[in-house]
Amino acid sequence: MSLPNLQVALDHSNVADAIAATVAVGNEVDIIEAGTVLMLEVGSEVVRVIRELFPDKIVVADTKCADAGGTVAKNCANRGANWMTCICSATVATMKAAAKEIDEIQVELYGNWTYEEAQTWLDAGMTQAIYHQSRDALLAGETWGEKDLQKVRKLIEMGFKVSVTGGLTIETLALFKGIDVYTFIAGRGITEAPDPAAAARAFKQRIADIWG
Ligand code: 5RP
Ligand code: MG
Repeated sequence: MSLPNLQVALDHSNVADAIAATVAVGNEVDIIEAGTVLMLEVGSEVVRVIRELFPDKIVVADTKCADAGGTVAKNCANRGANWMTCICSATVATMKAAAKEIDEIQVELYGNWTYEEAQTWLDAGMTQAIYHQSRDALLAGETWGEKDLQKVRKLIEMGFKVSVTGGLTIETLALFKGIDVYTFIAGRGITEAPDPAAAARAFKQRIADIWG
């Protein structure tokens, strides 16, 4: 079992705060995400700024793309993104078109997807899936639990590199002990901490303690 990566999600509503957070935590994490909230608010040009600040990091554009995959992926790749997300309800054609233009696509799981559909994504060459507890579901009282762990395990067994996200805290990580999670994606747990760099280091340390 390898050490899971740590990805920070930048979901700020303005560029200044997003860039300040990028500078603060960029060296502490493995992967930097231009979050959906940020990209919807300020546009994909922010990916270029992140890339210029951290030329050697993996940068993800969390577009949750549903259509026009080729065009969206090309635009994100041109700005320096390595990976891009497609929502699981996108057609396989959209995912394949996107995958031609950027290094890797992450299929973002929301709602009522099935393992049969997941197999079609694998068959089409997608290698990554993101198991997501939506922010709104968490706010409505949903919590991480065994039902989620079963799905994460099954997706890994199927052959996906599986990232996990949605309101993660340092305490939540232990739930996934023994599971070969590819990446933990944390947004507010890092960026809204009093000291975001220290919070990122604490996430890394906890990952090392559990998976090292
Ligand atoms: C929401 C997202 C977020 O980037 C992801 O959930 C991580 O943020 P947080 O840890 O704050 O929940 O993609 O759609
Ligand atoms: Mg995100």
